[in-house]
Amino acid sequence: MILSDEELAEWDRDGFLVVPGAVGAAACDELRTRANEIVAELDASTVSIFSTDEQTRTSDEHFLGSGDQVRCFFEAGAFDDDGALRAPNEQSINKLGHAMHDLDPVFDRFSRAPIFAGIAADIGVRDPRLLQSMYIFKQPHFGGEVACHQDATFLFTEPQTAVGFWVALEDATIHNGCLWAEPGGHRGPLRQRFVRDGAGGTRFDLLDPTPLPDPASARLVPLETPKGTLVLLHGLLPHWSDTNRSERSRHAYSLHLIEASATYPPDNWLQRPTLPLRGF
Ligand code: FE2
Repeated sequence: MILSDEELAEWDRDGFLVVPGAVGAAACDELRTRANEIVAELDASTVSIFSTDEQTRTSDEHFLGSGDQVRCFFEAGAFDDDGALRAPNEQSINKLGHAMHDLDPVFDRFSRAPIFAGIAADIGVRDPRLLQSMYIFKQPHFGGEVACHQDATFLFTEPQTAVGFWVALEDATIHNGCLWAEPGGHRGPLRQRFVRDGAGGTRFDLLDPTPLPDPASARLVPLETPKGTLVLLHGLLPHWSDTNRSERSRHAYSLHLIEASATYPPDNWLQRPTLPLRGF
């Protein structure tokens, strides 16, 4: 066992768990270096798909086809009217997604560290499958807000089995856009599902009208986490992060697991036609 009885009780009570020092500084730095290399190597033609007149269609394709790829996603407003990036790649990037853990050796090694497998077993995941990885840059001054959501909206299984492993690759504070979460909020219903609409786009299907907490409400608490901290997130837990208005970036890595035995619907936005789901 890696987690103590107290930590497991916290996880059950709150729907999240902060594990300081789970990942060493050198491993955090190695992942940062690799992510920066991927962005630097980014082919300009990949960027320019956003510059066509059919921006919505190509954006949908770029996004919907990313489940079994390593793709770059840019901050809103990163492109000028002619479709060119206003700033260099490394200052415009919002995130990488969504299969680095299977396709990139550095991300693979980071994602399959024994501590993650051990913690997944501790919280009762019987036969984990690594479904999705995201590298989030949260740039200084404008790194975008992520609105309040439940991860199961995007990673729906029946029954609900999604668990997020979120790692602070740099110190995360209320100033540079740390996570905020609703303690106990994982006991509430799943509000909506994000699905493919069958016409090349996506839509949200409402499942339950209970509103998610307002980010300004006292129900949400900030999770200020030093570099190397792991935050476990239950798939039903409402959480969000603010715009980074500070001078310092807030790089983070997030990896999501599901149970092998759960049903994964074919209309979930994320599909991996070229990659089998694997465990740790
Ligand atoms: Fe999330």
